[in-house]
Amino acid sequence: MSWKIARDSLKEIDLVNEESLFFLGNGYIGVRGNFEESYGRAVPTVRGTYLNAFHDVIDIPYGEKLFAFPETQQKMLNVIDTQTIHIYLGDEKEHFSIQEGEVKEYTRKLHMDEGKAERNIRWKSPLGKEIDVCFERMVSFVHRELFYIKVSVTPVNFNDVITIVSIMDGDVENFVDASDPRVGGGHAKLLHVQEADTIEESGFLRSRAESSGLEMACLSFHKGLDDKLVDISKEADDQRIIFTYQTQGRQEQPVEFSKWNIYVDDLRHSGELKQKAQRIRGQLETIDDFQLAKAQRKYLETFWERSDVEVDGDDDLQEGIRFNLYHLLQSAGRDKYSNITAKGLSGEGYEGHYFWDTEIYMVPVFLMTAPDLAKQLLIYRHSILDKARERAVEMGHRRGALFPWRTINGKECSSYFPAGTAQYHISADIAYSYIQYFLATRDESFLLDYGAEVLLETARLWVDMGHFRKDGTFAIDNVTGPDEYTCVVNNNYYTNSMAKYNLEWAYKIYQMIKEIDGNYFEILSERLNLWDKEVESFKRAAEAMYLPYDEELGIHAQDDTFLQKAVWDFENTPKEHYPLLLHYHPLTLYRYQVCKQADTVLSHFLLEDYADEETIHNSYNYYERVTTHDSSLSTCVFSMMASKLGDLEKGYQYFQGTTRLDLDNTHNNTKDGLHMANMGGTWMAIVYGFAGLRVKENGLHLDPKLPKQWNSYSFHIHYKGSPVKVKVTDEKVSLTLVEGEQVSLWVNGEEIQVKRNEQATLSY
Ligand code: BGC
Repeated sequence: MSWKIARDSLKEIDLVNEESLFFLGNGYIGVRGNFEESYGRAVPTVRGTYLNAFHDVIDIPYGEKLFAFPETQQKMLNVIDTQTIHIYLGDEKEHFSIQEGEVKEYTRKLHMDEGKAERNIRWKSPLGKEIDVCFERMVSFVHRELFYIKVSVTPVNFNDVITIVSIMDGDVENFVDASDPRVGGGHAKLLHVQEADTIEESGFLRSRAESSGLEMACLSFHKGLDDKLVDISKEADDQRIIFTYQTQGRQEQPVEFSKWNIYVDDLRHSGELKQKAQRIRGQLETIDDFQLAKAQRKYLETFWERSDVEVDGDDDLQEGIRFNLYHLLQSAGRDKYSNITAKGLSGEGYEGHYFWDTEIYMVPVFLMTAPDLAKQLLIYRHSILDKARERAVEMGHRRGALFPWRTINGKECSSYFPAGTAQYHISADIAYSYIQYFLATRDESFLLDYGAEVLLETARLWVDMGHFRKDGTFAIDNVTGPDEYTCVVNNNYYTNSMAKYNLEWAYKIYQMIKEIDGNYFEILSERLNLWDKEVESFKRAAEAMYLPYDEELGIHAQDDTFLQKAVWDFENTPKEHYPLLLHYHPLTLYRYQVCKQADTVLSHFLLEDYADEETIHNSYNYYERVTTHDSSLSTCVFSMMASKLGDLEKGYQYFQGTTRLDLDNTHNNTKDGLHMANMGGTWMAIVYGFAGLRVKENGLHLDPKLPKQWNSYSFHIHYKGSPVKVKVTDEKVSLTLVEGEQVSLWVNGEEIQVKRNEQATLSY
């Protein structure tokens, strides 16, 4: 089955979307799929290279700034551009460009097994010179700092000089669009070149972010063009370095070379950036193109071996499933400074911020396919815990940790608090993913080193935040749940139920660490100034947590007032008015029963044991009617829940919507970057939806079903360090241990041992 995504369109509208689709990344570097030769004038483009978490800090302007509104926000920066390579033919210096001459053949491919993107073009110049050009590019999974481009130019019908002009450009800006709140509206130019240098046929640029003072640098050099160098020059006030090479082209003889670009920044690289980059260059000098490609393939072979999902019955969906998983892999931060931005490293939508998207939609994927990456994502949250504590105090709490709704460096970036800071649920979402991590790995040392503190501090927030009412219930007022069309409400069911879970587990973990490591327990209690009495209050609040329920409808109410509002007039809302947020003032939306995305239904997925099956069913039916899915975080949840409730056909329809959302640009904004949470949602719709995976206290549970459109499907899950391949056919489920120790899993309520060299098969 295919490992490639291929495209052959040269339409402008497709090209700007393809820049996102063909982006390459490794969790540290992200490079959009821009053309080396650029498109020429007037073709829309977002030319971008990003380093995860590398940002500047900008002021947030307010008309009316009130207490504790964040004064600044962070913005991921577009950094030094090394993508540009121009090819000129003959003495006339005809520039290779799709805008001129004739494109006789054209394809571009993303190879998800080899970790590279490729473009092949047969082009005829206006004066009749024909060439075959191939660009291959890679952001190395093995050498974190490397973005690499390999070029081959073959004259088809001439012998003449070929000039190559390769550029490093420090004069870069961010993309802005003031008319779309989901993209940055201003502050385009924030990164300034500080140093431009040429050393031993390499170029070096160092730039500094205007306010954060963070620095990044890039060193580029070429291989395969020795003795062809004509000139290296600095231009445009030393903001650009231009390499010019010249060689005699001969018919049918390829001219081949590669450009190696080393990116460093002072978040990760201590000491002088120039020295650091040169040291890395020294290491890379000893590696050739072949070895580089081989290492990349090997990395991906291991990844896919433990995480591939195969579907027998629909090639288009298969393509989308792998594509989504691959881009998640490319975007996941792998150090304590970084996480997964809402758009991955593929674009500038949401300005490179990290949201709850990670914990609820992406950590589950990594937890089951590459637990080490899931761990890294959680470590990032732990690294910003102090800032979350500070924010809690700033927001009027006596104790606890309030995680920022959107952030890069841990400080709150959301300027519109009703759909930002008020989403307190993010703290419980983070706690939830720590619990899931523990349940799937049983990694006690991680729990002691990171998890316990996060769980206890977030639990503290809920106790401080909520209050016991006269009737003895515990209420949480003035929050916004996931649905951003209903803001600042009392007792949002999602928030209350997630807080309850957070509190229950904080209580449990507190007792657990007492038993695991008494010494550590003492140290932690002392450090957090947290004692039995306070922890007892976690239990009391959890037990008394108010979960709004409507007797008449038999559903959990989204919040105290949601069901009393008028239902939005869906019938008379023109199609072009979606997404509603771009056409109606927030207050208009808040006044109605209309949901942007799954809210109560999401809670029923994450915490299915908090409600009975009938209520879950009723809630699903009710909220489905008032949900627009204007957020891409929604359909996957409805898919999983439809599957759970036995409506596989519906589950499949929703699933189809998630799978090719970016490949088919169904939300019309793929140019701003890929929808990472939805990409995680695709995987979840299969594994949690069709196969019914749940990570519970007594183990991993599966309840597989086969959509009628498929003959079979298979996927991988990791439990306690052992990867297991699960295959579902129309009658049977088979489980195979890929490696590691034997584990037991629950399938349809039956406990199954998965042993080495033995396939466990059962009917369902
Ligand atoms: C959604 C949020 C999400 C954010 C970033 C918004 O449109 O409503 O739930 O966190 O996008 O993806």
